[in-house]
Amino acid sequence: MSDSTLKRFGVSMDDKLLQDFDELIKSKGYENRSEAVRDLIRNALVQQAWETDDQIVAGSILLFYDHHHGEVMHELTAIQHDMHDMILATTHFHLDHHNCLELIVVKGRAKDLRVFSDRLISLKGVKYGKFTSAPVVATSSLHDE
Ligand code: NI
Repeated sequence: MSDSTLKRFGVSMDDKLLQDFDELIKSKGYENRSEAVRDLIRNALVQQAWETDDQIVAGSILLFYDHHHGEVMHELTAIQHDMHDMILATTHFHLDHHNCLELIVVKGRAKDLRVFSDRLISLKGVKYGKFTSAPVVATSSLHDE
C-alpha cells in the first residue's frame, strides 16, 4: 500500500442507513467515514481470501492452558513438531502457578493452518484458543490476481 494514491468515490444511501452507519462509526471510535469504509472493505477482502483455501496467510495462534492438566504439554509439543514447517516462532509465558499462555506465530496455506489451529485449540486442557490471520499478499492487490 506504499505507492498507492488516494482515490475518491461517491456512495449513495438513504438517510436511515447513513445515520445508523454514523452511529456505528462513532461507537467504534473512527475519525471519519472514509476510515471506517476502508476498514470494512479490508475486512471483506480478508474474509474473501480466507474462503480461498490455497491462500498463503500469516498469523498467530493464542492458547491458554493449565500445564498440570494431563498430557496437554506433551500433546501441544507433539502437534507443533508435526507442523514445524508452518511455525515461525513459539513463545511460552508462565502466567501463574497453573496457567500458561502460548503464542505460536504461523505462516502457510489457510486450509492447513485451520486444521492445525483446530487440533491445538480442541485439545483437552486448552481453556481458550484463538487463531487470527491475514493474507500475506497486500489486500490492495487482491483484485489484480
Ligand atoms: Ni508455563
